[in-house]
Amino acid sequence: MEPKKKKGDSKQESQVASSLKAYFIDGLKDIYYAENALVKTLPKMFDQATDQKLKTAIKDHLAQTKEQVVRLEKAFELMGLKAEAKQCHAIDGIIKEGAEIMEETAEGPVRDAGIIASAQKVEHYEIATYGTLAAFAKTLNERAVLDLLLKTLGEEKKSDMLLSYIADTNLNSQAVDGKLQSKDLNAV
Ligand SMILES: [Fe+2]
Ligand SMILES: [Fe+2]
Repeated sequence: MEPKKKKGDSKQESQVASSLKAYFIDGLKDIYYAENALVKTLPKMFDQATDQKLKTAIKDHLAQTKEQVVRLEKAFELMGLKAEAKQCHAIDGIIKEGAEIMEETAEGPVRDAGIIASAQKVEHYEIATYGTLAAFAKTLNERAVLDLLLKTLGEEKKSDMLLSYIADTNLNSQAVDGKLQSKDLNAV
């Protein structure tokens, strides 16, 4: 037998739903800030990278990131809201760390490896964030917003996999060529 709902349960449920919705919107603002910050950061990474595959991957992901910004604006619109950014300290930290790596390494395979590492940290942050937002959208029954979030989530996952592949070929081929000393490998 189904347990009887206590009086006040539905009120509590609607309170949970409205605070989940507020939290969800907050998350959209956070990732909107992050994507916009990445539109500014990816060109810097592109300039500092030397590996052609890495440069192409960054360039392609920049174009994708610009589309992701538009997709988020559409998500806000679907919810009857104006797109708004809220400072995301996590992405600021990852970007700052990436800038430091680029400053501290010499141009070439080791800096490329550092760029890949920070780009993958960005992707992992995005995957975690979009995964959570997609789960919230599902719970809140925001189907159209969910579709947009899942599309971006798929792109972030693919981008992360491509970076893993480039990381392997970058360091392995340089090591075979003898351009990379074992001390360099110890540094990454
Ligand atoms: Fe993104
Ligand atoms: Fe991304």
